[in-house]
Amino acid sequence: MTSLLILNGPNLNLLGTRQPEVYGRTTLADVRAICEAEARDHGMTIAFEQSNHEGALIDLIHAARGTHAGIVLNAGAYTHTSVALMDAISSASVPLVEVHLSNIHAREAFRHRSFIAPVALGQICGFGATGYALAIRALAAHLAHEPGDTDG
Ligand code: DQA
Repeated sequence: MTSLLILNGPNLNLLGTRQPEVYGRTTLADVRAICEAEARDHGMTIAFEQSNHEGALIDLIHAARGTHAGIVLNAGAYTHTSVALMDAISSASVPLVEVHLSNIHAREAFRHRSFIAPVALGQICGFGATGYALAIRALAAHLAHEPGDTDG
């Protein structure tokens, strides 16, 4: 069965209690349940990961090659700083959709720049946890047209 990697970066483990006026009350466990349900609707399974460490995120992106057909990535603040994550995505060449809970373009200027966007299929932001479901739907449509080789 086709598998997707849902990857969450720094501070997203605190969802639900972290700045609820910005990120809402939805927890990361809720996000995981939403992703599992959406993936199931498309006949896919997911691996759901979170790390506060840039290198760990890079290792997970590398390992996705040959294991997962696509990646949904919320890189948190690394979105705006990490050339290393951008290079990892380019190197792994696994189709990836960038997600943010908040509308990063309506926030501080430093959040408008994404190092992920140039190497992503697309970016979804501003729709809270629903954005993850939209990203899975987008990847399912993409993979239906361009099925990847996930066997290595
Ligand atoms: C975020 C937006 C980033 O700017 C911020 O650093 C985060 C969360 C979002 O999901 O809205 O940690 O990626």
